[in-house]
Amino acid sequence: MNMPVSVSVDQGVALIRIDNPPVNALSPGVIDGLDAALDQAVRDNSVRAIVVIGAGRTFIAGADIKGLEQLAWGSDSGAPEMHELLQKLEDAPKPVVMAMHGTALGGGLEVAMAGHYRVAVPDALMGQPEVNLGIIPGAEGTQRLPRLVGLEKAIEMCVSGKPIKAADALNAGLIDRIIEGDLASGAAAFAREMAARSESHPKTREQRNKLPSASAISGMLAAGRELARKTRRNLDAPVAVLDALEAAATLPFEQGCAREREIFLTLAKSEQAKALIHAFFAERGVSKVPGISKDTVAASVNRVGIVGAGTMGGGIAMACANAGIAVRVTDATANALDAGMATIRKNYDVSVKRGRFTPAMVEERMARIVPQVGYDGFGDVDLVIEAVFENMALKKEIAGFVASSREVSQSGQLYTTNTSTLDIDEIAAATGRPSKVLGLHFFSPANVMRLVEIVRGKATSPETLATAMAFAKRIGKVGVVVGNCPGFVGNRMMFPYMYEAQFLVEDGATPQQVDEALTGFGMAMGIFAVDDMAGLDVAWRVRQELNQFSDPGARKPLVADRLCEMGRFGQKTGKGWYVYGDDRKPQPDPEVLALIEQLAAANGIGRRSFTNEEIIERTIYALINEGARVLDEGYALRAADIDVIYTNGYGFPAWRGGPMFYADRVGLKKIYDRVSTFYRELGQRWAPAPLLERLAKDGTTFKEFDKRRASSVVGASS
Ligand code: 3HC
Repeated sequence: MNMPVSVSVDQGVALIRIDNPPVNALSPGVIDGLDAALDQAVRDNSVRAIVVIGAGRTFIAGADIKGLEQLAWGSDSGAPEMHELLQKLEDAPKPVVMAMHGTALGGGLEVAMAGHYRVAVPDALMGQPEVNLGIIPGAEGTQRLPRLVGLEKAIEMCVSGKPIKAADALNAGLIDRIIEGDLASGAAAFAREMAARSESHPKTREQRNKLPSASAISGMLAAGRELARKTRRNLDAPVAVLDALEAAATLPFEQGCAREREIFLTLAKSEQAKALIHAFFAERGVSKVPGISKDTVAASVNRVGIVGAGTMGGGIAMACANAGIAVRVTDATANALDAGMATIRKNYDVSVKRGRFTPAMVEERMARIVPQVGYDGFGDVDLVIEAVFENMALKKEIAGFVASSREVSQSGQLYTTNTSTLDIDEIAAATGRPSKVLGLHFFSPANVMRLVEIVRGKATSPETLATAMAFAKRIGKVGVVVGNCPGFVGNRMMFPYMYEAQFLVEDGATPQQVDEALTGFGMAMGIFAVDDMAGLDVAWRVRQELNQFSDPGARKPLVADRLCEMGRFGQKTGKGWYVYGDDRKPQPDPEVLALIEQLAAANGIGRRSFTNEEIIERTIYALINEGARVLDEGYALRAADIDVIYTNGYGFPAWRGGPMFYADRVGLKKIYDRVSTFYRELGQRWAPAPLLERLAKDGTTFKEFDKRRASSVVGASS
């Protein structure tokens, strides 16, 4: 059996190497191994200094989140207990140097801060990202970090959860030196240097010179609370971490550690921690797709051709250029291309203003995007992304042209279509080589939104799918493989949710009330504001393309088509469900409220008031019920995939885990009962999904369903 921690001695330096793939997480074996290795190095008289380093791609990426998951769900054995180890490191009679590469995160940085010295390679990242999992640092990070970098910087790092780079860390006092070249030998040389010094080696817990004066503390904490309120809406951990940091500044070290532990253990069992840990593993789980294994060959994608320089095409071009991929963008006219390139330039200028990119980085990216009328050079690209507007006839025409024209395509090339609703198989058939075709459903703005639905057609080959998955990862997206049905997973679920919101306003609520209920629940935006942002004409066109509401018995929404007929397409026309001034903030419009009332009256709809709870049940349960259908029919592989889609593409709060995880927490029986009541009261559209009914009656959960499906899928592999 491989030991996760080993020791080797070279010229008076003991190199303690942690080897616990994939990311050297602090499993109990690593903690015990480190403890034993330290003892060995201290006992060995030939050793004058100690270096702790990670094997493979990283230093320690944190506590083992699997253990934290167990802790969240009630098992105390998952709580990492590192107090003794950290103290032993700090009290070691020989200098201990932490040598960091890759990422030193969470418990990883906490271990590092207990060493006497820290060195890192230039691209190493260091941070306390625990708040992203709904917890706070639990191995004395809130007590040591402010002692090294000061309270203000520690607040920024712990509240944001964002890691910092080596240069920043050096500046802040978190590390002592940046090592260029080989880390192990550079760290060993540094360790020998430190061992040769006559003075004692610094123990972080004893340092107080970076801590602020009593009078400065409250101002810093108030600024931290403001940062948490503004940037980490609804999250408990970023606020709670400030209490632990306050303890660092005001209490002796041991008492501060006790305070941190108390807060950590409370949050570790919270609903938010359960949900965010679920979200963490759900996001990593999407790469496990039946039929795709490590042996499936993914072609590398270095050149992309995009058809359509509109909002989506431009955003996709930026996402590719940001990842170092060369892009050709074509459109029907020079005017359309110019407008598209001007928008790309404008968006990059905003990134410069916000400090995300330097002007030089923007020029580098712009140079990767070649605008052109026609298809010159498309024959050399590895992947074509068609991103014209949602019209089947046009999409088929382009697909047919690209595939049949030799100058434009070659046999190895993948052809993908960015569609949010249309039938991939029909588009694939038009190319004559459907095994090389799939859907890539990007979300707007495509250079920002992390989600891509990767739509597998019935003929899509495993290699095509693997290539698309690798491409999505390369451009920094979370690619979720979904099946081919109208609207795929995300939009198919969104339609009942959106229309239920529209029925609610016909029944007596207002768009503003519905949106406030939804944002109060935690959605990033209300659905009416979303519709206005996306453009009401988009759903209008989809209603026509998909012939939604063709069933004569189905209730049809009355207002949206009318608004479109009035030219109220949302933000782009200044009016939609709301009216927009220069600040682009939605304001309720009496004209719309009157129209709603008038249409409701003309159609004999009785109006009443609604509580926010009713609004949430009618909208979110509609989402969940459709999610259960999508899952049952196999268009989503896992309930957890739906959660990834909704938290990354539709503004569903990650701290509720996603709609399916949320449903599990509410209880499927309760949801099923409510859906059944709506079915009796509101009609066919509320027919309970068979899977929801089955799971509710079995007293089980979507999470259990995922486990059962994973174990029954032949060919699923990691
Ligand atoms: N514990 C357990 N497994 C972990 C892990 C961790 N801390 N971090 C990553 N993994 C696993 C992933 O689940 C994945 O497993 P899989 O291959 O079976 O799906 C594998 O490692 C690779 O992870 P990624 O796909 O995310 O690889 P990347 O290279 O894209 O990213 C990373 C690497 C930046 C380290 C990223 O995984 C990450 O951000 N990890 C979480 C880091 C973190 O939050 N650390 C703090 C933990 S909480 C803590 O330390 C509490 C302490 O204060 C007591």
